[in-house]
Amino acid sequence: MSHSNTRYGILRYSKWTRVNHWIVAISFVLLTLSGLALFYPAFFGLTALFGGPEPTRIVHPYIGVFMSLLFIIQAVRFFGDNLFRRHDVQWMRQIRDLLGNRDERLPPVGKNNAGQKLVYWIFLATVPVLLVTGIVLWRPWIADGMPVWALRWAVTIHAYAAFIAIITLVIHIYSAIWVKGSIRAMTQGRVSHAWARHHHGLWYEDIMRNRKSDAQSAASNSEVQQERR
Ligand code: HEM
Repeated sequence: MSHSNTRYGILRYSKWTRVNHWIVAISFVLLTLSGLALFYPAFFGLTALFGGPEPTRIVHPYIGVFMSLLFIIQAVRFFGDNLFRRHDVQWMRQIRDLLGNRDERLPPVGKNNAGQKLVYWIFLATVPVLLVTGIVLWRPWIADGMPVWALRWAVTIHAYAAFIAIITLVIHIYSAIWVKGSIRAMTQGRVSHAWARHHHGLWYEDIMRNRKSDAQSAASNSEVQQERR
């Protein structure tokens, strides 16, 4: 481990993971705005953001494909951190302690807590559904050759999946703001020792253990080198 880690806190997300996340996040917001504009008359005014109704309809699926591809890369990067473990069950059982601001009672968790893992899996389930149903609805390329029943199914599933994904995003953003010090993880990449210890105790222990063994092996390497001299 380098010195900078000790000085500036603990590395949580590398630069490319952060860039990847923010490109997905911005695309997702644009998709939500353009999608709602097409979906419901009350949101029609949002089409102005994309240069009018016709450009909105044209651009929405392209952003969707772009976001889905980058989301797949992100999902692969995050996969290992989001597998459910035994301690996640207990954490979930104590969800009221989290909502009631008694989070010091929660069992220590790894890099992500069960709520974050759930967010991951909901996105992983909804984004591919949105992609496939969206492609079916893609005019004029695909939709014009589709039977009416397929279009009806696609439009219904697309809307429900979007609804779930948007609600999940709202919860995701709310939690990121609510848990002080989290936004920093995704902007600067580093978190404080106190934050890591408090919110992700098992992850913190792991990192400290690795640092110690790194330091020990560095020390014994230099001893070996000195003996050789
Ligand atoms: C648009 C506003 C968004 C904000 C403000 C935001 C904020 C954040 C923050 C602060 C973290 C780090 C949390 C931590 O280190 O504990 C994070 C992680 C993450 N974000 Fe976002 N995010 C946004 C959009 C999205 C979108 C659109 C997606 C996916 C479709 C997404 C997927 C993830 C995932 C998978 C993680 C890793 C933690 C986990 O697996 O749940 N985010 N986000």
